[in-house]
Amino acid sequence: MSDGPFSARGPEAMPGLEGMGSLRRTHACGRVTKALVGSEIVVAGWAHRRRDHGGVIFVDLRDREGLVQVVFKPEVARAAHERASHVRSEWVVLVRGVVEHRSPETVNPKLATGEVEITAHELRILNSATPPPFAIEEDSGAEETVRLRHRIHDLRRPPLQRALHLRHLVFQSARRTLTDLGFFEIETPILAKSTPEGARDFLVPSRLQPGSFYALPQSPQILKQLLMISGFDRYFQIARCFRDEDLRADRQLEFTQIDLEMSFVGVEDVLPVLEELVVRVWREAGGIELAHPFPRISYEEAMRRYGVDKPDTRVLLELVDLTHVFRETELRAFRSAVEQQGIVKCLPIHDASALSRGEIDRLEAFVKKELGGRGLAWARIGEEGAWQSPIAKFLSERERSEIVGRTEARPGSVLFFAADEPAKANAILGRLRVDLGRQLGRVDGRAWAPLLVLNFPVFERDEEGGFTYMHMPFVAPVEEDLPLLETEPERVRGTHYDVVLNGVELGSGSLRNHRSDVQRRIFEILGYSKADAEERFGFMLNALDAGAPPHGGFAFGVDRLVMLLAGAESLRDVIAFPKTQRGQDLLLDSPSFVSAAQLDELSLRIVPREGET
Ligand code: AMO
Repeated sequence: MSDGPFSARGPEAMPGLEGMGSLRRTHACGRVTKALVGSEIVVAGWAHRRRDHGGVIFVDLRDREGLVQVVFKPEVARAAHERASHVRSEWVVLVRGVVEHRSPETVNPKLATGEVEITAHELRILNSATPPPFAIEEDSGAEETVRLRHRIHDLRRPPLQRALHLRHLVFQSARRTLTDLGFFEIETPILAKSTPEGARDFLVPSRLQPGSFYALPQSPQILKQLLMISGFDRYFQIARCFRDEDLRADRQLEFTQIDLEMSFVGVEDVLPVLEELVVRVWREAGGIELAHPFPRISYEEAMRRYGVDKPDTRVLLELVDLTHVFRETELRAFRSAVEQQGIVKCLPIHDASALSRGEIDRLEAFVKKELGGRGLAWARIGEEGAWQSPIAKFLSERERSEIVGRTEARPGSVLFFAADEPAKANAILGRLRVDLGRQLGRVDGRAWAPLLVLNFPVFERDEEGGFTYMHMPFVAPVEEDLPLLETEPERVRGTHYDVVLNGVELGSGSLRNHRSDVQRRIFEILGYSKADAEERFGFMLNALDAGAPPHGGFAFGVDRLVMLLAGAESLRDVIAFPKTQRGQDLLLDSPSFVSAAQLDELSLRIVPREGET
């Protein structure tokens, strides 16, 4: 910078920025402890806070490892002290000094470095900084959009520093574990082709092949199967996946999987690998010992008892199916639900005096408004077994006694009923089960509840009454259900399994169809004509015919895994540069418009939608 006519001079002049000179960092700020007392060290970092105590200046210096207090005393180093008076929040500085004990009354037991301080002998100001938009603290106090826009500052905060460190430990532990188990790490393309994971694709226009598009992979599913057919036996990859779907707290447009595939295996060979991976990651990255083998449950049982395919089994409440009780009932809403292939389920809560009438009304409103339910029928069993319930008068003596028998209701119990199509009724009571279980303290004390959910169906009915796949079309049926492919596809159990932790789906996988005849039959049931199947999946069918070994695998969602391990609420808190609910990166300001020249080069034209200019 030139010395213009207005540049300040004299003792108050802002010191110029300097290079590091010959000084090199010897220690991380957060690692300066008692053992170093008496040593001369060099630390560098960001000025977290500066306090001027008339004469003595304190600067808390921060780096990735934590904070250390630096003291500038004029009688020790006049120049350093003078410069320190200019330092502001988030300036980048280098300090040479001597580690000393703090006086007993200034020891800070909350800080790893709280017993010591560095008496500065030399200060170099490496860079100034604009004032931070919010506090670089455990809790910034800022709204999330502000934090995302200023992600650089946000990432300096301890929770995000910890989360990304944890993420690193998770990756390293996964890599070590899978390498120990004989897996090869192999990459697959990002410029790929559409895969049937069920979400919308992100497309990338090709310049070299005008009018053609790559699809970003929703997962490496097809490619990892091809790798098994190519003879690699055991593959894994820390894979970036892209899905253009509506975002929620546990979903991002791009996310990361620990993806794996194995040859010559059955379900019983894959599950122990998944358990070992989770157990080692929890141990090595989180310092936590998980009990294993993990409990197992079938999809059918999970839906029946918990109403969801990813139950939090720490919540002790369970659902009861009462459909058969209401086949002939006078209660019109229930009867018509049953007549239309629906179900009636009940969530019984015993000793429920804590549930007031007002609370029940609030739950009913919540079910209608948030869960799309028609209503929430309920009954409270009073002293002597009397029913207090808006539906009691429509129920026969026999119906009431069957309900009481099946739900083990007793004075003080509250029963909630949902009569609807199975998916809806289960979703409503499955949600209330968790909310009320937590609210009323009906939980066991476990911090971690891993669970293997097995045998998801291969197919489900689509809206037109045909079949669609529940997960993806390559899932192999359970062997003894193969004949049902010809007769009752909806009853075919798949080999699909999920790993669930505390009610969150950590990942899923299955054995795959390695025989092309079975795969072709499944395409047929899914409504693909022979020509369609050839066109979309011909290369896959040919590959199966090229000598495909039996194979199966799995993919963990890393973001969810780290979110759980970090105790975070949202995936955005464990991803360095996440997208908002609206799919935007507020830091980079993407997505953004591109120039006409770029579009030209790709042979693309933007056609405004009707109503847009
Ligand atoms: P699936 O589609 O179930 O299976 O995905 C596996 C796991 O990836 C995570 N996940 C997500 N995480 C964040 N944001 C998203 N939008 C998102 N979508 C999925 C979840 C999920 O359990 N190819 C198969 C796996 C296999 O069969 O081997 C697959 O991708 O944790």
